[in-house]
Amino acid sequence: MTVHPADLNLPPVTDPARVDWASIPSPAFVLDETRLRRNLTLIDYVQKQSGAQIIVAFKGFSMWSAFPILREYGVSGATASSLNEAILAKEEMQGEVHVYAPAYSDEDFPKILELADHLVFNSFSQWERFRPQVQAARAAGKEVLIGIRVNPEYAEVETDLYNPAGPFSRLGVTRREFREDLLDGVDGLHFHTLCEKDSDTLERTLEVVERNFGEFLPRMNWVNFGGGHLMTREGYDLPRLIRVVREFREKHGVHVILEPGSAFGWQTGWLVSSVLDVVHNVKDAALLDVSVSAHMPDVLEMPYRPRILGAGDPPTDEHREAQDAPAGHPYLIGGTTCLAGDVVGEYVFAEPLKIGDRVIFDDMIHYTMVKTTFFNGVKHPDIGILKADGAYQRVKTFGYEEFKAKLS
Ligand SMILES: Cc1ncc(COP(=O)(O)O)c(C=O)c1O
Repeated sequence: MTVHPADLNLPPVTDPARVDWASIPSPAFVLDETRLRRNLTLIDYVQKQSGAQIIVAFKGFSMWSAFPILREYGVSGATASSLNEAILAKEEMQGEVHVYAPAYSDEDFPKILELADHLVFNSFSQWERFRPQVQAARAAGKEVLIGIRVNPEYAEVETDLYNPAGPFSRLGVTRREFREDLLDGVDGLHFHTLCEKDSDTLERTLEVVERNFGEFLPRMNWVNFGGGHLMTREGYDLPRLIRVVREFREKHGVHVILEPGSAFGWQTGWLVSSVLDVVHNVKDAALLDVSVSAHMPDVLEMPYRPRILGAGDPPTDEHREAQDAPAGHPYLIGGTTCLAGDVVGEYVFAEPLKIGDRVIFDDMIHYTMVKTTFFNGVKHPDIGILKADGAYQRVKTFGYEEFKAKLS
């Protein structure tokens, strides 16, 4: 029976306007337990209604202190993109370990094979190289499912940086390069071509996957639809996702796996920072105790403009011409490294910024937390959880030892 998403009874979430930000030590990545539980309720719903297995992609969300909460909602495993993530999956997620990396090294492969329940190869040359080890492990009783990542060469992702199905992509085997003669020992196919997409894109992608690789599906037990399914975004078409997955499962008799990362951490928390100084060079600029480059690298890489709680956009030329600039105090918001471009952009605040004021960046959990660096040796933000009862739990704080450990 299909339960409509409207009947889901989603748990209420914390209102950021009611959080006492000044009581949270700055800087800090703060995960909101209520928002995470809301996402997990939706993911659990999709999993149950569609029959797909939904695992978490560590590359997008690997805040392991929150894994016990994920397990409460039936998240049965993780997908790792390296040996380190595979070890973390075994140690902290404690479910199935799925591994996919664009290429495995001779050094890492035996350890990855030991840890993996599902192992996906990006090319037939990698599969040929490591097949003897897989066969030997299987002969010795190791249970491991083997997949090949295919590239359907169908893309709706606009940003090249995040488009694995673009021209000359090194990710996945195209139909032209596919080796039917090497399928012995392969149980599944994997594709990943979406990024923050809705289920209509998935439906169109599946049509191409079926057209290009459908003839091999009768030999497969499972198909992994990769990540990029932003099922926790407001307005995402959940009924379509559920229908599309069900139809695919029934038509091809395969187990379907989804491995989103963003959907888990989407809108689940903030980066709390504070003002260290305000300087003036034609415009006012606030220097924060975080770095855009070190702590929000996607802002510069993608690039995108993050939302700052309580702050608005700067006046446009049209505003100036019409002399109706929005009221408030504009500031260039910059980080604490000496990189000239360590700047988020210009924002307008209701009150002038003072040293010590909190500046809260929205939606800073998925990808942001995993991509941070110690560039310039800047203080790394704490990691904390805002509990459902409103209490703040400081999970980790970083000091000189962590900085030094990364260097030598
Ligand atoms: C192979 C693979 N699986 C899953 C994901 C997770 O995607 P997302 O976080 O967009 O859901 C990615 C992201 O790059 C990926 O490359």
